[in-house]
Amino acid sequence: MNHHSHTSYPATRLRRTRMSAWCRELVAEHRLHPSDLIWPVFIQEGKNTETPVASMPGVSRLTLDILVQKAREARALGIQAIALFPAIDDKLKSPMGDEALFENNLVCRAISDIKNAVPDLGIIADVALDPYTSHGQDGVVENGQVAGDKTVEILCKQALVQAKAGCDIVAPSDMMDGRIGAIRAALEREGHHDTMILAYSAKYASNLYGPFRDAAGSAKNLGKADKRTYQMDFRNGDEALREIALDISEGADMVMVKPGIAYLDIIHRAAAAFPVPVFAYQVSGEYAMIKAAAANGWLDGDAVMLEHLLAFKRAGARAIFTYGAVDVAKIIVERET
Ligand code: PBG
Repeated sequence: MNHHSHTSYPATRLRRTRMSAWCRELVAEHRLHPSDLIWPVFIQEGKNTETPVASMPGVSRLTLDILVQKAREARALGIQAIALFPAIDDKLKSPMGDEALFENNLVCRAISDIKNAVPDLGIIADVALDPYTSHGQDGVVENGQVAGDKTVEILCKQALVQAKAGCDIVAPSDMMDGRIGAIRAALEREGHHDTMILAYSAKYASNLYGPFRDAAGSAKNLGKADKRTYQMDFRNGDEALREIALDISEGADMVMVKPGIAYLDIIHRAAAAFPVPVFAYQVSGEYAMIKAAAANGWLDGDAVMLEHLLAFKRAGARAIFTYGAVDVAKIIVERET
C-alpha cells in the first residue's frame, strides 16, 4: 500500500476520534454497566455485625440482617445478582461436610431472607463442600484422595437444598467430573426445572484464592494442602475448552472462567467457541492486589478496578463476579448522573 492511500497516513489518523471526550464516548466499543456485575458476599451467623476481612480491604462478613439491607442497596444501584459464600463455625464442620445438606443452614436462610425482601435480585449459591469440611477440601476424602463420584452424590443433595430454599442459580465450583449432569438430573427429578446452573467449568488451581479462604474460614482447615487433583493446571488452555464443552453437554446454562485477569485468553477463547453466556470471576487475590497497591498510594485503585472490569468485557465476559461490585456500581451511577 503506498504512502498516499486513503487507508494510510495522513488520510487515516487514528488520533482524530480520540481528540475529545464526547467522541471517545461515541466510538467506545465496550461499556461497563452495573448490570454486568455480580456481587459475591461472605455471610456469617449473628446479628447486626460486619466483620472486616483483613486481606480484602472493604470486604466484611455480614450477618443476615445486614445482608438483606445491603442486597436492597445493591439492587437499587442496578446490580442484578448476588452470590453467597458462608463462613461457618468450626464446630459445624465435619469430614463429609454434613452441614451443607441441612435445610436450615446459613446459606438457605440467607436465600429465603433475600428472596422475601428483594424478590427481583438474582441469587447464586456455591455448590461445593469446602465451607463445611473439617479438612477444607471441596469434596469428601477417601484414602487421601478427594473422591469425585461420592462427592457428586452429596453435591446433588446440596444443590437441591439450595433450590428448595429459593436459589435461582446453583453454581458448582468444585470441578468434580460429571457433576453438572448429575445436578441437572436431580433438579429435574425434584421439579426444579427453572433453577439454573452456572458451571465453574474452567476453574484453575490458582494461587489467587488465599484471601477468599481467609474470608470463608477454610484456610486453616486446608493448611498446606492444595486442590490440584481437581482444579485445572494453569499451564493448560485447550483443556478449559474441553471442560466447558462437557459442562454445556451436561446442561450448564452459563459457564465460568476463574480467576479472571490472568486468564483473559481463556475467557476470549470460550466466548468465541461456545454460544453460551461466559462469566468471569475477579477473584479475591486480584481484588487484594489492587487494594494493597492503592493503599500504598502506588495505583489509583478505582481506576485500575474499572480498567480490569472493562478488560473482562472486551475479552467476551457477559457478567463479572467482583467483590467491588457495589463500589463500582456507585462510581458508574455517579458518573452517569
Ligand atoms: C470454593 C471456592 C473458592 C472460590 C470460590 N469458591 C476457593 C477455592 O477454590 O479454594 C475462590 C474465590 C476467590 O478467591 O475470590 N469452592
